[in-house]
Amino acid sequence: MPVTDLVTPEATEDPYAALRELRESDPVHWSEAHRAWLITRYDDVSAAFQNKALSNDRVRPLLASGKRPQSTASAAVLGLMSEWMVVSDPPAHTRLRRLAAQAFKGQRIAAMSELITTIVDEHLDTFLRGPEPGDLIENVAYPLPTKVIATMLGARTEDRDRFRDWSDELALVAFGTGGAARAVRHERALRGLREMDAYFRGLIELRRKEPGEDMLSALMARDGEDRLSDDELVSMCALLLFAGHETTTNSIANSVLALLRHPDQLDRLRREPGLIGTAVEELLRYDGPIKVLNRWVVADTEIRGKTISPGERVHLVLASANRDPEKFADPDSLDLGRSPNPHIAFGKGIHACIGAQLARMETRIAVARIVERLPRLELTAEPRWKQALASRSMEALSVAHGRSS
Ligand code: HEM
Repeated sequence: MPVTDLVTPEATEDPYAALRELRESDPVHWSEAHRAWLITRYDDVSAAFQNKALSNDRVRPLLASGKRPQSTASAAVLGLMSEWMVVSDPPAHTRLRRLAAQAFKGQRIAAMSELITTIVDEHLDTFLRGPEPGDLIENVAYPLPTKVIATMLGARTEDRDRFRDWSDELALVAFGTGGAARAVRHERALRGLREMDAYFRGLIELRRKEPGEDMLSALMARDGEDRLSDDELVSMCALLLFAGHETTTNSIANSVLALLRHPDQLDRLRREPGLIGTAVEELLRYDGPIKVLNRWVVADTEIRGKTISPGERVHLVLASANRDPEKFADPDSLDLGRSPNPHIAFGKGIHACIGAQLARMETRIAVARIVERLPRLELTAEPRWKQALASRSMEALSVAHGRSS
């Protein structure tokens, strides 16, 4: 019997053994533990991204169902999230994605390289002056993405740290678990989110008077007859902050861990820094930040001979698809020169990550600077993984850097 609960302590630690078994024995598997279908083969996950019976629209039905949200904070966050393109289907998604694409033009992202390097180096400077061992997540991987997106949205330097709190508060309410302190935490989060709402509205007002080269001004631009309303703009800013934060943090942290566990590959990257492009693709494939994507079934569909019915849930297991031997030779080996590397860590189809170019750039720069500036980097404690189905995320990444300055 294959393991089908992906959040047991063993599967949290290392999901890949369980996923291999599942992929081989029952690639379209109904999991009682998750009350969902687990799709684990690359070809099936790829095809699922094009399957119109599988919907991303999961917040609006929840709001429409009239089920009372648990708190004012949850209601506020659900309201904000219901406008997110990642939980919309066409035609609403098509419109939001077209308007958002104005802010993700290639040259805008390419221009960020210098700024990202500066932010990474500032954090590494502080890290190297700090106590040893230190946590690379807290000191480098965690603060980077929110600073980058805050800068891109045109926030003033002194406001940029607040973005990190807002992102945490969104995550707390959207995915927070229960517990006695829940009500208090939700109240605090709600205050933060109100502050975020007011902040973005102020920034929108400012850019309306004085448009700039920033991403928010690009989001505010007209596209023919259409443009985003103020509510949609606030919601889009929150989505960009949220979608790009933990994912990029984990992409950097999981990459560094994989390198530390494969000293031959770490040496290879040190000898050939030009490998960083293919290296990051391979690190995203090998232990990427998203394990599972969720879809709701809205029409009868058949996957590998199994009938899947409306109302059921499907989990697209990216972590398994990216280790499928039918697609990748020797899939459990880390090979920084792997090419081609058609991994699907950024998804595929209409919802494929709109921030992929930015995320790749942040991961490449952070990993390259860490490898270069910390030549004696060493793991000082086995990392603990967070017990989560969707993400592959460590509590901390404790390392010695072997430098006193
Ligand atoms: C390594 C880091 C990242 C990974 C692995 C990642 C992965 C993904 C994946 C798998 C999806 C598809 C979701 C689905 O099909 O349901 C997605 C969508 C999305 N991502 Fe990312 N992401 C990353 C970083 C970012 C960044 C930096 C941003 C923006 C600043 C961003 C913004 C978005 C948005 C807005 C969507 C929704 C797109 C749509 O629905 O059309 N992501 N991401």
